[in-house]
Amino acid sequence: MKNIPVIMIIFGGSGDLAHRKLYPSLFNLYEQGLIHDNFAVIGTARRPWSHEYLREQVSDAIHETHDQVDENEVKAFASHFYYQSHDVTNVEHYVTLKKLAQELDDRYSAQGNRLFYMAMAPRFFGTIATHINDQHLTGSGFNRIVVEKPFGHDLASAEQLNKEITASFDENDIFRIDHYLGKEMIQNIMPMRFTNPLIKNIWSGEYIKNIQITLAERLGVEARGGYYDTSGALRDMVQNHIFQIITLLAMPEPKDLSSDSVHQAKQELLKSLIIPTPEEVKKNFVRGQYLGSDTTFAYKKEPNVDPDSTTETYVAGKTKFTRGPIAGVPIYFRTGKEFKEKKTRIDIVLKHINNPYGQAHSNNITIEVDPESKIYITINGKKIDEPGIRREDLTYVFSKEEMAKVPDGYERLLHDVFVNDSTNFTHWSELKRYWEFIDAVEDAWQKENEAGNPEIAQYLPYRMGPKEADNIFESPTEHWIYE
Ligand code: BG6
Repeated sequence: MKNIPVIMIIFGGSGDLAHRKLYPSLFNLYEQGLIHDNFAVIGTARRPWSHEYLREQVSDAIHETHDQVDENEVKAFASHFYYQSHDVTNVEHYVTLKKLAQELDDRYSAQGNRLFYMAMAPRFFGTIATHINDQHLTGSGFNRIVVEKPFGHDLASAEQLNKEITASFDENDIFRIDHYLGKEMIQNIMPMRFTNPLIKNIWSGEYIKNIQITLAERLGVEARGGYYDTSGALRDMVQNHIFQIITLLAMPEPKDLSSDSVHQAKQELLKSLIIPTPEEVKKNFVRGQYLGSDTTFAYKKEPNVDPDSTTETYVAGKTKFTRGPIAGVPIYFRTGKEFKEKKTRIDIVLKHINNPYGQAHSNNITIEVDPESKIYITINGKKIDEPGIRREDLTYVFSKEEMAKVPDGYERLLHDVFVNDSTNFTHWSELKRYWEFIDAVEDAWQKENEAGNPEIAQYLPYRMGPKEADNIFESPTEHWIYE
């Protein structure tokens, strides 16, 4: 692998994301030689840490995520880290940061390349982007920026943020990260769809009855009540992760695998995304909040959550496209906190076909993303000793050894940023469309809230969410496959 010269500046260098994901991933990329001699990382945050303290943190982060490491390697890697205490609103701090970046660039021969990573509270993204621009923090080589989610709170704020970022960066250099796009099974959707005639040729409204996407989480909001209460499940999970999955499932075949072609196929599809009317929101969407149990708080009693909150910890909904291979096919989705288990899965439900055996069950293609990684297709045969149809699953599954080789989503996506491959990042025009959809739903809910009659289903924790979600289907023969 080639050794990429770069100075990386992480805003939020003392934070949880940097510790849990970025430092271990960077270490793996260092071990592979993608970044090696000619890189330095500047971690910034408000806390008054020293370079040495940051290096200890980096080393701890690696030990926490790796069973066996060569201590000399960890030490050598950590020596590339520098810390600068930084108040994002203080212009002078950007001047110091720029100077430090230049010094390190000289020391490490980083060729003027800069990578900025926004890993802190999203309310600061705009301020940081503005000062990167007005204090000329960009270098003379490549300049890339990675932006964590949420990218805006609605379309208007996303547009504003985009304006602030594009003042210094070209669209091609903006990497809006969605860690779902780094997941192994999400990256398997395209090859599964496009390389097998059995699957490719049934990918239409003629054979697919509906598609169901479930992103279930066992955990509640935990310590993130403050953020979550301003967000909710729709913005936190649907606006990004679920819509990216939907797009991969519904887009036309790209003409090749280049980033441009993939984004072009996605954009072509998204033009035909149906934005729901308030009546459709009422009919096709369910929002809910989890109740408490003997040992856990109800959502409204969680720390930093408004006791009268109308923020949803669960949402189920439906969407459709007017164009693309599965135009008109209903795509149902649901996500929520405090489900019975952590499970991310996609069910492609095939239509019944007339056959001499009478009414057989519908067949499904299921992609399990988390916690297991597998794809299975139901196959029908005959029962052994009585008349009737027997169903078995044909499974594509990874061995333990293969699973151990699957890189973490962050490692994969950081790798892509270094090699300048934006295939698995969100293009602005996609994001804009997702926000248009989300805004339509949020506006309808907001009106219900203002009218004093919000329908927010209260659901028992550690089950399957509110039963109201069973009623969003178009026909009585449809139901959730994963129950
Ligand atoms: C994040 C959300 O984007 O995704 C969290 O902000 C959520 O609320 C998380 O828990 C889920 O990711 P994963 O990879 O655990 O399914």
